[in-house]
Amino acid sequence: EKGNYRHFMQKEIFEQPTVVAQTLRSYVHQANNSVALPQIDFDLSAVKRITIVACGTSFYAAMVAKYWFETFARVPVDIDVASEFRYREPVLEEGGLALFISQSGETADTLAALRHCKAAGQTIGVVVNVPTSSMAREADLLLPTHAGPEIGVASTKAFTCQLAVLAALAAHLAVKRGRMSRKEEQEVVRHLLEAPAALNAALDHDDDIAAMAHLIAPARDVLYLGRGPDYPLALEGALKLKEISYIHAEGYASGEMKHGPIALIDEAVPVIVLAPSGPLFEKTVSNMQEVRARGGQIVLISDAAGLEEAGEGCLATIEMPKVHPLIAPLVYAVPVQLLAYHTACVKGTDVDQPRNLAKSVTVE
Ligand code: F6R
Repeated sequence: EKGNYRHFMQKEIFEQPTVVAQTLRSYVHQANNSVALPQIDFDLSAVKRITIVACGTSFYAAMVAKYWFETFARVPVDIDVASEFRYREPVLEEGGLALFISQSGETADTLAALRHCKAAGQTIGVVVNVPTSSMAREADLLLPTHAGPEIGVASTKAFTCQLAVLAALAAHLAVKRGRMSRKEEQEVVRHLLEAPAALNAALDHDDDIAAMAHLIAPARDVLYLGRGPDYPLALEGALKLKEISYIHAEGYASGEMKHGPIALIDEAVPVIVLAPSGPLFEKTVSNMQEVRARGGQIVLISDAAGLEEAGEGCLATIEMPKVHPLIAPLVYAVPVQLLAYHTACVKGTDVDQPRNLAKSVTVE
């Protein structure tokens, strides 16, 4: 049921504050703000290496998680898309944790990679939204997202719920490995619990983004740039736009622009920059200047401080709430989802059932 919404995708975007809160409730002890994993009969402190495998949007969640697992828990993380992972003879050492991320739990390549890792003696962790799925059944450590059924083909709420689970897991791992104090864990949990309100604040910009979609809809190509944990969000923004509006889009790490893609820049190629203010912001501002010097049109998505510093001269800006860097990838997912959604609406494409795509990819 779509209720008051025009599309399932739109409904699912707007459900995010609720379903992220719902997901967090099962990963957090409210009484003492510590992380609680649903089911854990496995010693996470002994984990030497984590291998994360997924496809599409779920793979971008893996990219963000790598950043968290490495910075918080100092555990080395390998990530790969499932279709590549299986055929490259990955080195899987004893005592490794292999983590699979999937909305459907049925994606053929991811499932095959899971079985490969199981046969190789890895402990199998699964972050999955469909609790009755094959991946859920085959997990040693089942980490469900509680996003509820996701019907729009383009994944939205499953992604932010995956991020919530992965952030909790990263904090848990960090505590287990003696890399994070209980006090720091409480801080992390507090920031995570701020996510639903921040998602709501991001959703408040729906009208501005709908207006901005008219500027994006005529483009033939669009670039998305981000840095650090927000780089995967640039990839996600580009994927969403391609999937539902059929506009060619690419996501790049901001610093990679000058190594090639900058050759594409002219006034017809909008460049969407995802850049919360903070230590990496200055670098991104200089990347924006490189774009501008070549006549590029920038859409800057940042918080008030970022827009104050670098918003002038942009084609458009979208103001996000000022959030802790941990939850920025969740919050910045909202404007990229909405921009793809509204651009598709302007173009009149089939938002919930884009051409050539299936909700669950069960062929390899
Ligand atoms: C993107 C999208 C796909 C899926 C991918 C993985 O909007 O929907 O890229 O993310 O097919 O699917 P799951 O997560 O079900 O394994």
